[in-house]
Amino acid sequence: MKKKVIIVGGGPGGYVAAIRAAQLGAEVHIVEKEKMGGTCLNVGCIPTKALLHTAKLYHTVQEEINNGLRVEGISLDWPALMARKDTIVNRLVQGVKGLLKAHGVKTHSGQAVLKDAHKVQVVGENTVTLDADIIVLASGSVPSKIPVPGANSAGVIDSTAALSLPKVPKSLVIIGGGVIGTEFASLYSSFGTKVTIVEMLPEILPMVDRQIAKRVKEKLTECNIDFMLEAGLKEILSTSNGLSAVVQTAGKNHEVAGEYILMATGRKANIHNMGLEEVGIQTERGRIVVNEYFATNIPHIYAIGDCNAQMMLAHAASAQGVAAVEYALGHRPFYNPKVIPSCIYTIPEAAGVGLTEDEAAAQGISYKVGLFPLMANGKSLIEGCESGLIKLIVAEKSGEILGGHIFGPRATDLIGEIALAMNLEATVDEVIATIHAHPTMSEGIAEAALSVSGNAIHWPPGAKIL
Ligand code: NAI
Repeated sequence: MKKKVIIVGGGPGGYVAAIRAAQLGAEVHIVEKEKMGGTCLNVGCIPTKALLHTAKLYHTVQEEINNGLRVEGISLDWPALMARKDTIVNRLVQGVKGLLKAHGVKTHSGQAVLKDAHKVQVVGENTVTLDADIIVLASGSVPSKIPVPGANSAGVIDSTAALSLPKVPKSLVIIGGGVIGTEFASLYSSFGTKVTIVEMLPEILPMVDRQIAKRVKEKLTECNIDFMLEAGLKEILSTSNGLSAVVQTAGKNHEVAGEYILMATGRKANIHNMGLEEVGIQTERGRIVVNEYFATNIPHIYAIGDCNAQMMLAHAASAQGVAAVEYALGHRPFYNPKVIPSCIYTIPEAAGVGLTEDEAAAQGISYKVGLFPLMANGKSLIEGCESGLIKLIVAEKSGEILGGHIFGPRATDLIGEIALAMNLEATVDEVIATIHAHPTMSEGIAEAALSVSGNAIHWPPGAKIL
């Protein structure tokens, strides 16, 4: 008899798990309370990148005006840009719905609540209760707010609201110099907004390799973005001109004015109002506890993606969803948590996979570093980027690639080569032996591999890379 699988949440974790479970012969039901596609598709990855695409074009055209391009009367049509973003989102949402239907997955609209370990109630227009052999929780995450006075004032926004502002703001204060903070800083500063990033740590992008994060910050600074580091938000004041963030640095309070204040200080797992406590599912520090196959303490109930908070990335959620249903349906999944790329869509982009240099050092690993500056790469110069960098972290003895980090145009696509190499446990010699097309940015990966032994072709021996 077919196993009955219920998936709670229709984001990239849930809908991918649903399709995989259907491929494996299960009867699959998916429950979603809002729109299919989840945060990523509706108010996350896709709409942000749609806006960043135009921001990058706008930014690039203005740079190219100095490089032989004459453009008259370039201007921004904000409502048209919003409409394009919405069209892309709607098309992809329809695509997900179509895929689920094509795989025979039954969709239910409403809030899923566990009634017992085998029963899920869907509270919606028509409340129904479904029985399940296997339940996969894929309920995602929500933005976390800092509870300072004034945090609920009009104009204090999260990343969802930042995607649908009525017009380009004159000024924007972003609290948090992480992924969301830097992406929105790139986006709005490209359209002329005066952006200030307030970050409590001494550096932005704390999870990113330090050399790469430094270059991102330098580029953002060139784009007229201001930074306040080691700065804690104390209060938000409403003024006659908008808002003012009261920020403490070195023991002193400063006021930073902005038309809007964007809170980008992280997200938290969405684990409430789902009956978890009633059924006895173990949670810890606001997330669902899972084992290596994403099973909770109740073995036929799984939790994947942001709700287990292992790695809050869409593609990690999809991979976990596939692994969970494969395991639950009696297959042997392959999931390698050491090789999950993370991508930042600033202008230019940054991306990394595997260990950063600091992590390799902290783990006491004997490693070597390969570095190649993209100012010596023809394609990168053609694309107008002189500050790019490719960095490899390599095991000293075996030459196996342990980490890769890129700053430069299309870094988010390029990182796939390093991820594949790492998944195949490739060594630098194997990367070097792979012929890379010319002129491409990917040549820089081979050059970084060559540089591990000081043999880069397009970089003088011993020349310093700052
Ligand atoms: P984040 O964790 O990346 O960054 C939050 C930043 O805020 C950190 O640098 C932290 O030090 C800082 N911070 C925290 N409290 C603060 C305070 N009181 N004052 C000043 N700074 C403070 O979180 P973010 O950027 O909000 O992103 C949320 C999640 O969404 C992350 O897991 C991220 O990976 C994911 N995401 C991924 C994207 C991608 O893959 N391109 C794009 C957007 C989000």
